[in-house]
Amino acid sequence: MDLKCRAVELREKMSLEEKVAQMLQISYSRVSHKEALIFAKMGAGSFLHVMGDDARAIQEEALKSRLKIPVIFGIDAIHGHALNSSSTVFPSPLAMAASFDRNLVKSVARATAREVSEDALHWTFSPLLCIGRDLRWGRISETFGEDPFLIGEMAKVMIEGYQNDGDLKEDNGILACAKHFIAYGESTGGRDSYDSPVPERQLRSLFLPPFQKAIDAGVGSIMAGYQSVDLLPCSANPYLLKDILQKEMGFEGFVVTDWENVRSLIGKQFVAKDIYEASYKAIKSGNHMIMNTPEFYNATLDLVKSGLVEESLIDEAVDRILKIKFDLGLFDNSNKVQTLKNKNNKTKGYIGSKAHEKLNEEITKRAMVLLKNDGILPLFKDEKAPKRIALIGPNADDVMNMLGDWTYFTHPEPKPSNTPKTKVVTLKEGLESLREKYDFDLYYEKVCSTSDLEAAGLKKAIRYAQTCDLVILALGDGLEEYGEEKDRASLELSLGQKAILEAMVEVGTPIVTVLVSSKPLDVYDLAKFSSAMIYGFNWGSLGGEICAKILAGEINPSAKLPISFPRHTGQLPIYYNYLPGWHGGKYVDFHQSQLFEFGHGLSYSKVIYGNLSYSLNFKAQFDEDDPIERLKRSIKTLPNEEYLKGKAIKLSFTLENISDIDCEEVILVYVKDEISSVITPVKELKAFERVSLRAKEKKEVNIEILLEQLCIIDGNYNKVFENGDFTFIINDMQLKLSL
Ligand code: BGC
Repeated sequence: MDLKCRAVELREKMSLEEKVAQMLQISYSRVSHKEALIFAKMGAGSFLHVMGDDARAIQEEALKSRLKIPVIFGIDAIHGHALNSSSTVFPSPLAMAASFDRNLVKSVARATAREVSEDALHWTFSPLLCIGRDLRWGRISETFGEDPFLIGEMAKVMIEGYQNDGDLKEDNGILACAKHFIAYGESTGGRDSYDSPVPERQLRSLFLPPFQKAIDAGVGSIMAGYQSVDLLPCSANPYLLKDILQKEMGFEGFVVTDWENVRSLIGKQFVAKDIYEASYKAIKSGNHMIMNTPEFYNATLDLVKSGLVEESLIDEAVDRILKIKFDLGLFDNSNKVQTLKNKNNKTKGYIGSKAHEKLNEEITKRAMVLLKNDGILPLFKDEKAPKRIALIGPNADDVMNMLGDWTYFTHPEPKPSNTPKTKVVTLKEGLESLREKYDFDLYYEKVCSTSDLEAAGLKKAIRYAQTCDLVILALGDGLEEYGEEKDRASLELSLGQKAILEAMVEVGTPIVTVLVSSKPLDVYDLAKFSSAMIYGFNWGSLGGEICAKILAGEINPSAKLPISFPRHTGQLPIYYNYLPGWHGGKYVDFHQSQLFEFGHGLSYSKVIYGNLSYSLNFKAQFDEDDPIERLKRSIKTLPNEEYLKGKAIKLSFTLENISDIDCEEVILVYVKDEISSVITPVKELKAFERVSLRAKEKKEVNIEILLEQLCIIDGNYNKVFENGDFTFIINDMQLKLSL
């Protein structure tokens, strides 16, 4: 019998009480262990933030319930299974996006899935598909940056990795959750969970496409955002959740609300008077699983019994949840349903394994961006190599700040006293381990913490800087400055860190800066006074080791920015794919451009691009010479989906590494739609590839762009391809085609 039928068959045996309980997701951090067991026995469908033996105990209880329906356990494993202190902590999603490396990112998701399932869990609330355009927002580190194409590609491979390429029932396949639906990052002013005033054309042009990719990749669950879009909370918006997501986009998995979304309809967003109205709205709008609002249970029973809510809506939610439980193998693969009783004492050894550590090294190498280098790096290449290095600043030796958000330090409750149980290397330790090899002395002074207003240890730092031939500044932000409910009004470095910079500039010793920072900060002055600058974001547990090796020249950096750096907070939001039409094109009192744009990233090698040519597998229909013909064409019915199918533009070009060291080059292909019926961005990323080149090697590269990728959302909200001129931009090469 197919799994959908098995789900329906099981649901038909369930009482109303059992069905509504199935829709509950209980937060283990909000109930006692005893209460959790009671919820399990009454048939709560899911729990979150519980691991290991606690989860096994809950599962054992669930299996004692009448229909023995297993619980599905969810966790925020967004850069590794990082809520577990024995796990492998990979770089933050933003850092991983800087790698532009689909294969590695997929492997990270695969490794995460192995660690999560070893802990008796089945579901991660990842990937996050929000677009990171307003850097004041506290959750930028969780995004894949500012570009919807990159976000969609990263999401796709992560989903494939987590969900084991569709074979979820295998031991280590876990359920992915695309979140937050939708436009959560677009909240006005970067204010977490505030209203996102996004009009429908923008929704369709920018925000839905990454979710469509996630759905096409088979994502089994989607999380409804906390916030409202155009004044309607996501969890109370049937047009978004039902009409668009479920009907139009074809999403067949289940929708889980974000944390307390239903309760928030009452006390935060004030669109419901009480839990009855809130539950009514949530069900009618197409939410299926209700995270952390257990009072939904009693209210919903009353709503159904009174006839206000059709039982068929409950049935639909339960069918979707059970279908995923069947997909996951919870009813068929006993290894997936771990209980204390059947706990296999021999663990598989995935959590924090050597193999995952190796993978972590590989992704971290490719996730660190060299933003500036006047030639000072690599450090140990000739007789000018520094002999005395001063390592100054709060993020040189801070484990919490390097790991970032959603780790055992931060969730489910903040626990700064936690200690990592796997290898962690800070920058200080990374440099120390190279001291003998390159024969230098290292003098370290933290000075202050990332958010301090005073630079207490400055005197010592100045003394070191005066007697050293290089200063490495390790600055950035700290956990108190980002994450949920930690939005910033200014991206400037703290006063303490500014004082460090000022003092170091005064001393005059050359400065190399390393930033361990959740997101781009205002580093205008810092960049100006630094001879070189490396951005590590939250670089995960091995970041210090890898960064030291990049400084030394043992690793050739290859990452590119997935997000733009402003020169000043007042420019926000600022992103590369901006729209034309701004009167004057700039602020009267400031630059209009970014300090570092999306796609920027240096290496120690030089790659030359050349010989750009193209071929089409279709006959272009556009007659660009005759203005009347052109107008006729543009007002005629436009080509439809059938017309677009399979049509592609193939771009061919050469890459030549003219340097003496091997490198990896990230190729970015942008397209500018020259004339369109609605305003389109000045350029948009349409393809990317990472290519490795040995020293002096020359390679031919072919990249295909589908004609369908050139569609826009027109005046009637239809996705259409409009004939006309398109300019393809690859590095310093351009090609205009009439299509
Ligand atoms: C966040 C979600 C997260 C959920 C469960 C919420 O606060 O917005 O992204 O998955 O909590 O921890």
